[in-house]
Amino acid sequence: MSVARDKEKDSRLTGPYDSLRDFVHAIEARGKLMRLKEIDQDRYEATGVMYRLIDKYGYEDAPALLIERMKIDGKWRNGPVVANLYGNWDIEALPWGVEDIGDNDEQMYRATRDKLMTRIDHAGNWMKIKPVHVEPDHAPCKEVRLTGNDIDLLRFPWLKNNPADAARYINTGAVFMHDSRLGANVGTYRCQIKGKNKIGLNPEPGQDGWRLLMGMKRRGDRACRVSIAVAVDPAVWSVSSTKMAGFGESEIEIAGGLRGKPIELVKSETNDIMVPAHAEMIIEGEVPLDQAEDEGPYGEMYGYLGLMKRNNFFVNITAVTHRRSPMFFNSFTGVAADMPKGPSCAAEYHRYRKLIPGLKAIYTPRGANGVSLVSIDKRFPGEGMAAGQAVAANPGLNKVVIVVDKDVNILKPLNILHVLGARWQPSASVVIPQTQMRMPDPSMQTTGITSKMIIDATQQLPGEGGPDIWPPVSRVLLEEKCPDLLDEIDRKWPDYLAGWMK
Ligand SMILES: Cc1cc2nc3c(=O)[nH]c(=O)nc-3n(C[C@H](O)[C@H](O)[C@H](O)COP(=O)(O)O)c2cc1C
Repeated sequence: MSVARDKEKDSRLTGPYDSLRDFVHAIEARGKLMRLKEIDQDRYEATGVMYRLIDKYGYEDAPALLIERMKIDGKWRNGPVVANLYGNWDIEALPWGVEDIGDNDEQMYRATRDKLMTRIDHAGNWMKIKPVHVEPDHAPCKEVRLTGNDIDLLRFPWLKNNPADAARYINTGAVFMHDSRLGANVGTYRCQIKGKNKIGLNPEPGQDGWRLLMGMKRRGDRACRVSIAVAVDPAVWSVSSTKMAGFGESEIEIAGGLRGKPIELVKSETNDIMVPAHAEMIIEGEVPLDQAEDEGPYGEMYGYLGLMKRNNFFVNITAVTHRRSPMFFNSFTGVAADMPKGPSCAAEYHRYRKLIPGLKAIYTPRGANGVSLVSIDKRFPGEGMAAGQAVAANPGLNKVVIVVDKDVNILKPLNILHVLGARWQPSASVVIPQTQMRMPDPSMQTTGITSKMIIDATQQLPGEGGPDIWPPVSRVLLEEKCPDLLDEIDRKWPDYLAGWMK
């Protein structure tokens, strides 16, 4: 295919997308989706496939997964169920309208980050576009409407990921709530399937959703109405599953701003909450605030089984509406990548670039929650450690902050191990004995309290106790002498492979 036609194909593929299915279609068209016809989840086959994909290809290269039909609780249930949608940087680039999508991770990371930074204003806030309202007849999420005895959540392909989980879970819902005094909130909290018309709800203490429910409960309200949008477009998914809005700030306006186009909302059937019209399914219900039930245990984001949560929230379902053949999105929590990285990378880069003069990139690798990698263009002694201190001061995902020089591609975690072996002296590090971190890190003795470490793995200058002269990097010398070499190898790559994969 000619370069011109390639570009035409990519510009048609790139977002913004109204729906999850449009995004999945684009992923498949880029050749990054593995489609499986049937999987027996009573034998945890889908979870096994997901583990193996990550084992074989790593977080950066494992494809998205689409399973057409699943055996669950002895019955075959129609999907499709999709998973691992946010693993590769070219796929992360798609929803935001990045042009010239290609396979170079570093370029795609930068293009995604830079595109999303155009959606942040000078004060560092996400730009907002107000949603528009559509009539129910124009809302795909209303093609089928179920109320009363017709509601049966058990017949949909929600997965039990691990035999140790308490039950099957809806783990990618965008939970919409509204309170006349506290405002609106959208957040993703796992929902344990408890029966045909009952699910658990797990906003962790401190989350905005938890604050809203607790605020209403303290005031003496008996119930909070919720509508849960399942399998939403990437912009709504980003605002729902990652921290992008302050308490009371409109996540849906931020989602509109992210994609440069309003989100289309439609009124729920049994409450006044407005929900994304292009979601695959909406589950409506009421959270009783004067009752509570145990929930979990569940395999959590760090890859460990969390404890059962005593006296957690739950939802009595009042309506389910969905597309005629809905698509489902499962989080293999702690196994695969479900959290969009683009918006958080853009927001962090925007924030830290003011504090760290030579900042090149900042990134937490998938599968390495708690490790923050920072690359800088270092000019003066002390800059590496200063950069690490700026990042560690934030209570986010940064128990270990590793600062490296600008020539290190931090998107490839192996490079970091190389640098630790070859460029770093352990004396160039500090430990903060006790500080804050709001993450479910299983090594923390007290929730929210952690120690932290800053590793300055930049080449130490003589003024910092480093060697007088650092030897030149062999690969750089090769690339200087043979500037076309690696491109040529890439071109011939299929021929080399032919000599191996017969
Ligand atoms: C797949 C997935 C599942 C999640 N499950 C939970 C959960 O069960 N409880 C929770 O508090 N946060 C969970 N999160 C993180 C929240 O969705 C995220 O912190 C969000 O910003 C919370 O919204 P809020 O700040 O409006 O409360 C999950 C994130 C993802 C990507």
